[in-house]
Parts: sequence; C-alpha cells; structure tokens
Amino acid sequence: MLNGKKILYSGMQATGTLTLGNYLGALKNWVNLNEEYECIYGVMDLHSLTVRQVPADFRKNARALYALYVAAGLDPEKNCIYYQSHVSGHAELGWILGCFTYMGELNRMTQFKDKALRHEDNINAGLYTYPVLMAADILLYQADVVPVGQDQKQHLEITRDIAKRFNAIYGDVFTIPEGYISQSGAKIMSLQDPVKKMSKSDENVNATILLLDGRDSIIRKFKRAVTDSDTVVRYAEEKPGISNLMDIYSCVTGKDYAAIEKEFDQKGYGEFKMAVGEAVADELEPLQKRYQSLMDDKAYIDSMIKKNDEKAAYYASKTLRKVQKKVGLTERMF
Ligand code: TYM
Repeated sequence: MLNGKKILYSGMQATGTLTLGNYLGALKNWVNLNEEYECIYGVMDLHSLTVRQVPADFRKNARALYALYVAAGLDPEKNCIYYQSHVSGHAELGWILGCFTYMGELNRMTQFKDKALRHEDNINAGLYTYPVLMAADILLYQADVVPVGQDQKQHLEITRDIAKRFNAIYGDVFTIPEGYISQSGAKIMSLQDPVKKMSKSDENVNATILLLDGRDSIIRKFKRAVTDSDTVVRYAEEKPGISNLMDIYSCVTGKDYAAIEKEFDQKGYGEFKMAVGEAVADELEPLQKRYQSLMDDKAYIDSMIKKNDEKAAYYASKTLRKVQKKVGLTERMF
C-alpha cells in the first residue's frame, strides 16, 4: 500500500516507437486503472540494452516514450513516471534475485527463445536474465497489480515464483503481484500475418500500426489488412484476420463482438476495414496532438523526470535496504 491505495506497476521498453499492440494491450489499460491505484510506470531503458541500440536514437526514443505515457493520459504530477536506469536499485535487486532464480526456469522462457532466434548474432546474458530484471522492477515497488499484454504472462509467473521463494526463506519481504491481462486487446496480431503478434520489429511496415502514424497511413494499412475469402464479419478462430480487426474495433469503440457483427451484417469487409481504420485514427489523434506539444515543452518533461526519479528512488531504496539486511549483507555506514 502507498498513500492508502494498492500499488500498480508497469513499463515498456524504450525501443523504437510504440505500436497499437502496446497501446491496446497495456497503455490504454494503465489509463483505465489509473484512479484506482497508486501508479508507478517505468521507461524500461535497461531492458532495451538487451538489443544493440544507436545511443542518440535510444535517448530520443526513451524521451518519446515518456511523452507518450503522458500524452495517453497519465498525469506525471499524480503518477510516478520515471526512468528505470535512473534508479540503481533495479540493477542491485536484479543481481540478488538472480541468485534466487534457477537456470531451468530461465530456460523455459519463450520470449528468450524467440528473441534468441531473431538475434542469433547477439544472444547475450542480458537477454537471458531479462525476466530477473523485470522481477526486480516489480518487486522493488511492492506492486499489487501489473497490467501487461498476454506475451508478458510468463514473466509475471516467474516474478511470482521468485518472490514466493524469497519470502519462504526470509519472511514476508515482497508483495506477491497479480497480473492484469484484459479480455480484449491483450494480443493484437499483425495486420499482414494475423497468426503472428503485432510487433515493432516487423519488417513489413503494413503489418504494424505505430502510435504516431498519420490518419492516411492508418487507414491505408487497415485497408490492406489480410483477412480471408469469406465475406461475413464474424469472430471465429478460423478467421484470425477479421477476429483481430474486431478485437481492435472493440477496444477503441467499447462495442462487444455481437454488436459489431450486427453493425456490419450484410456489409462487406471493405466497409468494415474502413470503419476500423477511422475509429483507430480518431482514437489516436488527440494523443498525437498532446504528444507533439509535450515534445516541444522540454522544461516541463525534464522537471517531471527529475521529480519522479527522486520519488521512485526513495520507494525503491526502502525495499532494497530491507532485502540487503534480510540476506545478511553488512549495513552501510554512510
Ligand atoms: P514491451 O515494451 O515489449 O511491451 C510493452 C507492453 O505492450 C504489450 N504488448 C502487446 N499487447 C498486446 N498486443 C501486442 N501485439 C503487444 N505487443 C506488446 C506487452 O505485453 C507489454 O505489456 N518486459 C516488458 C517491459 C517491462 C515490464 C517490467 C513490464 C520491463 N519491466 C515490469 C511490467 C513490469 C515488455 O515486454 O515491454
């Protein structure tokens, strides 16, 4: 508990720009849950280092990510939005937790296996221990709830296992976090290959909607979305393209699948795709405008980063000191 409320913690990697998947699977839910919890959101720049970055672009992307969080509706005066790398406790707790994580557990992580396949020339130890750092992020802030997309479920499970293992030895040190994975939008698929997750690293630009794509580009990508040879707008396992578009439409309009099927009854795929494109463009337009004005206000973003970095460092140090003491590290004299 923090200020009388339960704690929500989440974050995104500061790599490239965000996709519609990041937005619908995570960011939009963060905004929806915002009032209910005391919220802490990280710009996960240390995690981004598992893939080689161009330093100047990386710094820009991290700042853009910060501004996108705010543009999406997270007020940095009320929420602790900070940079992971500015709080050294993440790396310190990460090390300690690594000593409570088994290689067998890490070997089972599907994201590691996928990423190792995609980055064969750089299968570094950071990629392997990525989930341990993620566990440190969450446990450092004693988070009760962690809203993420479906692809992070396994990382949340290992976080819970590590926390329980630690608590079983040293007493109730960590809060055991619950994942929050919403019904709709938790796994947005590629527009070009709807059995594959929408991802920023997709080589086909038409596969992914970026949060900063303009209206025309958004509509064009939806028009080109791969569907099937049927003509009926219906949610079904054998219709992954249409089902994905229905999922997206449902997330941005709030309509359920039955209502969507009714709305497009007797109408063709063309009309449906156009409606999805329009609805997504309408949803993103205000966010994009706010983003532009935030990026122009350097002093404001800087002051928010500073204030929240300090706050995060304070929360983190409380847990870290407790952990250090529990495992028997000698207390510092300074
Ligand atoms: P990242 O940057 O890969 O993803 C950020 C969030 O977006 C969700 N997501 C999706 N949701 C639905 N459909 C998609 N196609 C899609 N693609 C991505 C992800 O599930 C995630 O919620 N490891 C985390 C970053 C992280 C973190 C943490 C999160 C580091 N430490 C502590 C929570 C708590 C990640 O994968 O980010």
